[in-house]
Amino acid sequence: MNFSFENKVALVTGAAMGMGLATAKAFAEAGAAVVLADYNEEALQAATAELIAAGHQALAIHCDVSDEAEVMAMIEQTVATYGRLDAAFNNAGIMIPAVATADATNEDFDRVTAINLRGVWNCMKHELRQMLTQGSGAIVNNSSIAGVSSAPTRASYAATKYGVLGLTKSTAVEYAAKGIRINAVCPGSIETPMVADMIEKGWITMDDMIGNLPIQRIGRPEEIASAVLWLCSPGASFVIGHALVVDGGATV
Ligand SMILES: NC(=O)c1ccc[n+]([C@@H]2O[C@H](COP(=O)([O-])OP(=O)(O)OC[C@H]3O[C@@H](n4cnc5c(N)ncnc54)[C@H](O)[C@@H]3O)[C@@H](O)[C@H]2O)c1
Repeated sequence: MNFSFENKVALVTGAAMGMGLATAKAFAEAGAAVVLADYNEEALQAATAELIAAGHQALAIHCDVSDEAEVMAMIEQTVATYGRLDAAFNNAGIMIPAVATADATNEDFDRVTAINLRGVWNCMKHELRQMLTQGSGAIVNNSSIAGVSSAPTRASYAATKYGVLGLTKSTAVEYAAKGIRINAVCPGSIETPMVADMIEKGWITMDDMIGNLPIQRIGRPEEIASAVLWLCSPGASFVIGHALVVDGGATV
């Protein structure tokens, strides 16, 4: 399978850590010029410097994906620097505290919706405008197994992840004939700073996550990165509007 992204330009949001960073690295190692976008400036600069030090082409762009003006500027800067946009991984997202839905706050609902759903919408809109001018491109959105099953006590988080699949499938159909492929990944529990933070706050334990998992371990960020690279590669040229579950068997 050809995973070469030589002469390609890839954009990853939420690229400062976790699955975003692993995917940015994977794109860079496959030869792409990579744009790393994040709102955590310090972690973003460190991640980008690491890629550049390893000899890759990488550009850091500060962007809060919930702010459309910043997203528009991110795409403009990408194209101004590298001339095009071939692959985009809309990954930036947040978790919310676990709370019974009757007691959940509107603030948490609005915050998680603004970033996880509106953020993906903002990014897709402006990525699509550039990809349409090229007549080609591949977009992968980061949903979750919470987007195909359930997340009791985190219903609004699950709603954003179902929403991401709604955006993915609808736009995939709209743009397939225009040379743009749009798909999603649905990760299970993955060892990232988000999960480390959940464990630290006592929201979840490693035993809860491993529980009845057939594979008896949680996933590594690189295991999501390889799914994203495949979906963006010519190997997935007939894959449109798919929600690729990568979960160690959790939903099986
Ligand atoms: N870790 C898991 O088990 C898991 C499982 C399923 C889905 N997901 C989803 O995968 C994605 C990545 O998760 P992760 O575990 O790597 O998270 P993480 O917290 O380790 O990393 C997320 C990155 O996104 C950035 N980010 C957050 N909000 C942003 C915003 N508004 N604008 C720009 N950047 C922003 C953060 O600064 C951080 O660098 C999220 O969408 C998450 O919902 C995670």
